[in-house]
This record gives sequence, structure tokens and C-alpha cells, in this order.
Amino acid sequence: MNTISIEKFIEDIPKAELHLHIEGTFEPELMFTIAKRNNKKIDYASVEALKRAYQFNNLQEFLDIYYAGANVLIEEQDFYDLTWAYLTKVHEQNVVHVEIFFDPQTHTDRGISFETVINGIYRALDDGQQQLGISFKLIMSFLRHLDEASAFNTLEQALPYKEWISGVGLDSSEIGNPPSKFERVFAKALEEGFATVAHAGEEGPSAYIWEALKLLKVTRIDHGNRCLDDEELVEQLVKLQIPLTVCPLSNLELKVVPDLKNHPIAKMMNKGLLVTVNSDDPAYFGGYMNENYLGIAQALDLSKQQIITLVKNSFKASWLSDKEKNAMIAKLDTYFQHN
Ligand code: ADE
Ligand code: ZN
Repeated sequence: MNTISIEKFIEDIPKAELHLHIEGTFEPELMFTIAKRNNKKIDYASVEALKRAYQFNNLQEFLDIYYAGANVLIEEQDFYDLTWAYLTKVHEQNVVHVEIFFDPQTHTDRGISFETVINGIYRALDDGQQQLGISFKLIMSFLRHLDEASAFNTLEQALPYKEWISGVGLDSSEIGNPPSKFERVFAKALEEGFATVAHAGEEGPSAYIWEALKLLKVTRIDHGNRCLDDEELVEQLVKLQIPLTVCPLSNLELKVVPDLKNHPIAKMMNKGLLVTVNSDDPAYFGGYMNENYLGIAQALDLSKQQIITLVKNSFKASWLSDKEKNAMIAKLDTYFQHN
């Protein structure tokens, strides 16, 4: 009957999240708890002091704090607790499917084994599927500020876990670290059967999106905002229906956009791009999935029809099977008819 508020509409709708860094879900309270049990020091005296430091002028300022935060993660149980906290949080928000990134090099470069990291994350994801009904895919992301050799080494370590890892991605400092730097690593990953995605066009130019498509053969672009600078690129993305995993509150906090009212997501939808809404690093950017949807819905005055399109897009763009996608889309149609 189209009567419920937009807030309730967004809260209740079953959603999928496709762009989420598990290290970016590390809430300050949990960070202090884990630091204490591992006898690790945090540079800030309290949870409040740490939260006050979350003011960023660009991607790099955020990354410096994000990597420092991850330093207190040592034991398999720490990675489990981090992942479990995220899953219980998004379960409350009616997220039913997640495709999450982990950054092994952030941990292996500190002497934590690949096995410790992935065992903790995967065990929590598996429990989330059993106990919360959240289906999942795991994406291993390479840090693009590190060199090709380090990425190759990381890929090698991932091979015994092929059954657990659906794809590989590329994140961290974008400008100056183009996709072409990892062309050979991605070729090997494709050969080994991994799907590929890459962050591109967040701060970097539209040329990096072209590179991700042509050289890394990605099936999705993470962020991709800067595609709007290049009409031919937009045409190509629309034609191939390459999904863009857009992250509104991240864009606001990292000054990719000056205000949510200037966020290009509605414009992107109007051009026929397959855009989705995601939280990126929710512990740092002030909101999980519902806050991201609500933020753009209010700032851009989106209709319920537009919200439904975005939510449907998130399932279309996922790595679920066609059968699973169709079942979710039918469910969403029914939800829309009744709300
Ligand atoms: N790592 C975590 N969040 C990121 C982002 N928004 N861009 C690039 N690398 C990241
Ligand atoms: Zn990201």
C-alpha cells in the first residue's frame, strides 16, 4: 500500500553488500578490547579520543589510521571477533548477502600468518551463514602501494584456500598506483580461476577504470565515480552492464564529494549504469548499509522505486547464481508491492 516511511522501507528491505573491507569494520570499542588482551598499545588514550581522530581530508589520511588500527589484530580469534561483530551488526540491518574484502598484506607484513587471518575470517563467515542466514563470498585484495612481487607472493599463499576465496581485488592508495602495475598478477589470478575486481576512479582518473577493464579483466569496479568524466567509458560500462560498487558515506568522509547532495549516484542511475550502495569502511565513515541508503535517499530525495532499483542492482551485481539472484529479485518485487 506504499504507506511506510522511507526509513522503515530501507531498514526492512533485504539487502546485499558488495564493497566492504573487513578491517574497516573495526569499531573503536572492539579495538580497545582486542588491544588490551594482546598487550598492544593504541596511539589514542580512549575510544572518544580515537573517534575524534576520524577526520580525513583524503584517502591517504584515512588509510594511515586504518592500517594503524589493524595492528592490534594478532590471533585467529581476533579476526573471528572482528568479522562476527560486522555480521551481527548487518544482520540487524537486514543484510542477507555479503561479498567482503580482506587485505592479507596488512597482516602478513607484520608477521601474522595468512592462515591465522583467513581461518578467523572464514570461520565467522561460515557461522554467519549457519546462524544468521547471511550468504557470503570472500575477496582477497592486494595493496596497490606495495610492489608486484609482494602481490605475487600473496597470491601464492592464497592458492591452498581457493575453495574459500571467490575473487581478488585491488585497494589502498590509488593515485600513482595504476591497475597496469598488477596486470601480470591479475592474469595469474584469472588463470587460477579467481574472479577479479578493482578499486578504480575513487580518487584516480577515469583512465584507471579503462585499465581495470582492459588489463585486469574485472567483472566489477569498486567506486568508479570518476567514470562520469569520460562519456565513452560510461557508454561502455552501460553496454557491458559492469557494476559499480558505490560508497556514499565513504565518498563524503574522504572528500570525494563535498556534500551528499552533490553525490553522483542518481545521475549514474539515470545514465543506465549498474550502481550499488555499499559502506566500504563503516566503522570509520559513520554508517553501515542502512545509513548509506538513508543518507542518499534524503540528500537526493530518492523514491522507493529508485531504492528498490539500487537494492535489486546489488543482487544482480553479486556473485550469487542466477537462480539465487532471481529468487531475491522476486522477493524484492513482492516487498515493493506491499510497502
Ligand atoms: N581500503 C579500505 N578502504 C579503501 C578505499 N575506500 N579505497 C581504497 N582502499 C581502501
Ligand atoms: Zn573500498
